[in-house]
Amino acid sequence: MRFIGRVADGATETKARLILLKDMENHVVAESLVLIKNGGEANPVNEILGVLREGLGKNEFLSYTSYRPDVAYLRHGGEPSGAREVYSFAIEPIGVVTEEGIEPNRAIIQPRSPVYLLEGEDKPLEYIARGRDVVWSDAYIEGYPSWKVPFDKSFIPYHVGVYGSTGCGKSWFTRYILVPVYRRVGYKVLILDWSGSDYVPLLKENEVVKLSEVALDEESIMSYFSNKTFSFSKNDTIREFFDEFVEGWHAKVKEAYLNSENPQEHLYKELKSHVENSIASIEHRVSRAAAQRALRRVFRRLKPSDLQPVMGVLTIEELIAELERKGLLAIDMGGALTEAKLGFFLSLSKYLYSLMESGRSLEIALIIDEAPQYAPWDARGIQAETCEMIKNLAALGRKRMLNLTLISQGIKGEIGVNAAVRRNLNTHFFGRIHPLDASGEGGASEWLSPYGISASHLLQLKPGRFYFAGAMNPSPVPLLVTYTPPVS
Ligand SMILES: Nc1ncnc2c1ncn2[C@@H]1O[C@H](COP(=O)(O)OP(=O)(O)OP(=O)(O)O)[C@@H](O)[C@H]1O
Ligand SMILES: [Mg+2]
Repeated sequence: MRFIGRVADGATETKARLILLKDMENHVVAESLVLIKNGGEANPVNEILGVLREGLGKNEFLSYTSYRPDVAYLRHGGEPSGAREVYSFAIEPIGVVTEEGIEPNRAIIQPRSPVYLLEGEDKPLEYIARGRDVVWSDAYIEGYPSWKVPFDKSFIPYHVGVYGSTGCGKSWFTRYILVPVYRRVGYKVLILDWSGSDYVPLLKENEVVKLSEVALDEESIMSYFSNKTFSFSKNDTIREFFDEFVEGWHAKVKEAYLNSENPQEHLYKELKSHVENSIASIEHRVSRAAAQRALRRVFRRLKPSDLQPVMGVLTIEELIAELERKGLLAIDMGGALTEAKLGFFLSLSKYLYSLMESGRSLEIALIIDEAPQYAPWDARGIQAETCEMIKNLAALGRKRMLNLTLISQGIKGEIGVNAAVRRNLNTHFFGRIHPLDASGEGGASEWLSPYGISASHLLQLKPGRFYFAGAMNPSPVPLLVTYTPPVS
């Protein structure tokens, strides 16, 4: 612990500024943790842990809006005096350090109180974790690899958002920090890898299941066909006939695999002839003709290869059983159509929901990368269903130990996550953000600017740096955390 300066004029119980001792401006940086011995070294009222932000250098001789002798001197190549220079930082108080843990500060922070920079061996994160049921992660406070960051266990099923523009390290952070934390508290982790390129390369081969291996439920298969065929060419009769065929779909898929060299072609022919024969039996001439026109349009859109994504045989029950055995599993959704991915998500979430409804505690973390694909700001069609489902899972999951971790490049608006879903996320990790998220309602700055973190900081974060904010953070003030990826 090193003495670095004193509290300036105008401090309240929640805000203070630190005036640095001479030359400390060269060493002390934003995001450092400090301890204020409130009221003096000898007999402090309390000891307040805080984080430094909003640095400011002042030299009143060098005002750039008025002409002064020092400015004139500078303009002619001289070096102006630094005698009246003041360097300061805002201190965001995290709380009072007590035996029981961190408590909100209610005493006025006294001007003149000495301020100490915390160093490697001081372990301030242990004060923060005191009195809480925490799990220690491998993430650490930027600049201090030995200060590992604690996560409050009880808020794990209160859901998590990880945001940041492309390449800021969201997938790595999730893989190397969040997944191990969830595993440590006994959660099984299921990752939905939208493109198959984000997590699959970071996992072992036997931890990955391809989406096309998974059997979807019949409703999802119907949604898939509906999306593929422009709602069955808007013909309800055709929809009926598809529905008849889809009933008992899995048995038909298995039979196709058993009896044919080309199971897709086989199943396609069966489907087509079922619909054709059914149309032929319509008595009313006008309806029959309309159905035949729709039939031609539908099968122009639908090709045998389109059946591949819905011809998996691994059931969701078997998938979850495998997850229970392995503890970590990723679904590689690369190459599949959006409707198939969302259809699978619907099947999976319906199953998890039914388990929870029957009273089971899941202890599962579901990691949803590219979350706006499932819950966009203007959810329509199958996305309206997946969005609704995420909301339902989130609500019931809090009681049944289901964690949802949503990963997105944007936070709000067109590039972000649906607002109703976002309201269910109580812990947030903000990496380098997109300028569209820098301002306005619901964006990162709304979360962080009350704590002295400006949008310009967020626009410049290096890869792998995230502000950790919300319920799971035992510190009431967001902290800048990072991690060291394993060497490959
Ligand atoms: N802690 C870190 N330190 C240094 N480099 C890192 C760190 N984390 C990630 N990176 C670098 O950033 C790259 C991108 O990481 P990652 O794939 O996790 O980004 P992403 O945010 O998921 O991007 P996308 O939105 O495109 O999926 C990594 O390949 C790695 O080189
Ligand atoms: Mg990624």
